[in-house]
Amino acid sequence: ARAHTGRDSYIMVEGGYHGLCGAFQWGVEDLEEDGGGMVRPYGEGVPQLLRQLFHLVPLNDGDRLESVLQQHGDEIGALLIEPILGNCCSIEAGHQYMSDVRELCNRYGVVMIVDEVKTGFRVARGGVQELIGIQADVCTFAKALANGYPISAIGGREDIMRRIGHGVMHGGTYTAHSVSLAAAEKTLEILEETDALERVADYGKRLQEGFAAILSRRGIAHCFTGHPAMFGLMFAEKAPQNYREWVTSDYSFYNSLAPRLHERGILCEPDSREPWFISAAHDDECLARTLEAFEGAVDETIRSLRRGRGKTRSEAVPPKPGRTKLEGGESSLPPPAALPA
Ligand SMILES: Cc1ncc(COP(=O)(O)O)c(C=O)c1O
Repeated sequence: ARAHTGRDSYIMVEGGYHGLCGAFQWGVEDLEEDGGGMVRPYGEGVPQLLRQLFHLVPLNDGDRLESVLQQHGDEIGALLIEPILGNCCSIEAGHQYMSDVRELCNRYGVVMIVDEVKTGFRVARGGVQELIGIQADVCTFAKALANGYPISAIGGREDIMRRIGHGVMHGGTYTAHSVSLAAAEKTLEILEETDALERVADYGKRLQEGFAAILSRRGIAHCFTGHPAMFGLMFAEKAPQNYREWVTSDYSFYNSLAPRLHERGILCEPDSREPWFISAAHDDECLARTLEAFEGAVDETIRSLRRGRGKTRSEAVPPKPGRTKLEGGESSLPPPAALPA
């Protein structure tokens, strides 16, 4: 994107994750109500010099993005976005917002980079771009592309991609590794020729329906975010629209529930920011076992939180490796808002 535009700066979205690389491993803390906050790197050893190069904007706020572009558009070469925040509860970018992002990138000559590392070959064969009908200028893939084998790929507009090898360098020790390529070839064949992705989405929907029935019977507020193949489970009536809304939400029910699921053999991520990823190997027996464990864990969580002994965030949630621990939402008393009176 820099070679194509001749511009060094870039825009990232708060709550997005693009890997542990100095250019990307930044987030916002000490949030302020007016949209401000302290921008800090996750982890040590990231040069402060890099801070001059990027702007962070909240998801689903086209006005903020436009205002950054109005002020700095001629320095900005790229915008990086995960349209489903795969490391922040699967919070979704709205379709209108994504159209606005596309239009603003066109207007300001910014390369729109859609990070499909988590969504690619999972939510649809054409990734989230197929679902929302928008084309990136450059997009990135990994994870499901070779069903977990170590591989990553970039694709994009021909005029941008053709710069690789004509001035832009690309390569590395493991580039085009034969084992990973063989795994990717087989995975893509299976995705093309079978209904694996439809089954994954269907399982995710049935899991959500099962969770919803258990929670509704107990009067516990909840909603789901993202796509059934990688969904967030939120204990609130309304899904967060961006990272800030998650930080300031009450996620203590989830934090208390997750370790109880682990005790019952359901190894969900203890951090509510990590979505529930469905695999094609999940079958009806898994579904029944998961729902049975979920029901037991929910009841124990309710009892425990009512007694005021919910496991707190700090007990339940170790920070994700390399990421700053967020202290917001830490609570065991009073019981979380999700609990019925
Ligand atoms: C959306 C997204 N982008 C980029 C990355 C970085 O990939 P890697 O860990 O292979 O550097 C990740 C890793 O989890 C990710 O989830």
